[in-house]
Amino acid sequence: MQLLLGSLHEMDSLLMLMIFFLQTEQVLGYELMMQLLIRNEKDGILVPIPQYPLYSASIALHGGSLVPYYLNESTGWGLEISDVKKQLEDARSRGIDVRALVVINPGNPTGQVLAEENQYDIVKFCKNEGLVLLADEVYQENIYADNKKFHSFKKIVRSLGYGEEDLPLVSYQSVSKGYYGECGKRGGYMEITGFSAPVREQIYKIASVNLCSNITGQILASLVMNPPKASDESYASYKAEKDGILASLARRAKALEIAFSKLEGITCNKAEGAMYLFPQICLPQKAIEAAKAANKAPDAFYALRLLESTGIVVVPGSGFGQVPGTWHFRCTILPQEEKIPAIISRFTVFHETFMAEYRD
Ligand SMILES: Cc1ncc(COP(=O)(O)O)c(C=O)c1O
Ligand SMILES: *[C@@H]1O[C@H](CO)[C@@H](O)[C@H](O)[C@H]1NC(C)=O
Ligand SMILES: *[C@@H]1O[C@H](CO)[C@@H](O)[C@H](O)[C@H]1NC(C)=O
Repeated sequence: MQLLLGSLHEMDSLLMLMIFFLQTEQVLGYELMMQLLIRNEKDGILVPIPQYPLYSASIALHGGSLVPYYLNESTGWGLEISDVKKQLEDARSRGIDVRALVVINPGNPTGQVLAEENQYDIVKFCKNEGLVLLADEVYQENIYADNKKFHSFKKIVRSLGYGEEDLPLVSYQSVSKGYYGECGKRGGYMEITGFSAPVREQIYKIASVNLCSNITGQILASLVMNPPKASDESYASYKAEKDGILASLARRAKALEIAFSKLEGITCNKAEGAMYLFPQICLPQKAIEAAKAANKAPDAFYALRLLESTGIVVVPGSGFGQVPGTWHFRCTILPQEEKIPAIISRFTVFHETFMAEYRD
């Protein structure tokens, strides 16, 4: 309650910020940009694979073309500019007008955090190629690896000394992630920089077609934007709660990563950030055939069997896109910490039984 009152006192200045940021739910913000960027099927958007399916769905809905680029699993889901460039050129040669690049940092479902140098390369690439940079930064508070830090693309653009209209950048933030994780209340914003005034005006006009989030959503967004400051009375308890939640998420990520890596046929990259692990699973040929007979993708077959025998829900990699012939599943790190050991042991028993059943 104290948090809430603290921020309501600042409501005057907040309201201005919110209008500037076009206060809306993150998904709505994304939809809005797709509506603006896509004129017909010849307009393309570069999207990472594996990807959060919001992107493919929204591009399809607006009648555009998804131009995929692959994240490299062997470098911890690294984003390679050379591959992005290759995909861009390939799309252009097919007559696609590529308009924007989507970057999800930290990644969903892949859990990687971009290196700062990599972000500089991405920004320069977008500027050289005339692309709008759509930066999905909703997991910006969720960083677990000691050697990784979140750097906003806005900061990267600024430190390159780019001028006001050099690089159109949209950054997304949501109240549904971070240490706040208010998924039941919908709120978020997008910050728009580097667009010319006439374009900003059109964005503002389209945003005005929607009604704004309801009052609780707006209050939550304002709290995320203005957390307690060190001088506030509530700061110590806020800081303790925040640090406690993030430290617990980091321990859960590590425990699951270690557990998956021990299993036969599974390799698991680190969860550097976000809320997920995305292990690769090398399935025996007999399991692949059984999946085919059941008319399921092999990783979906595995995920269903897991659900039936343990009650654990994971999302098959085929739901996000993956290098053809590889199989994955996405597991969140969100169950309560005290439940993680039981989840690990049930998962381990299931996996061993499954592999024994289908061993070639
Ligand atoms: C990468 C990414 N972007 C956006 C969203 C959606 O955010 P919101 O809850 O604000 O709609 C999610 C939700 O899972 C996500 O993982
Ligand atoms: C992924 O990275 C590895 C190691 O740098 C490299 O050998 C490989 O060619 C890369 N794969 C792709 C598809 O770019
Ligand atoms: C606002 O929306 C949230 C979820 O979208 C809902 O739980 C809440 O009851 C709404 N509040 C009001 C005042 O309408």
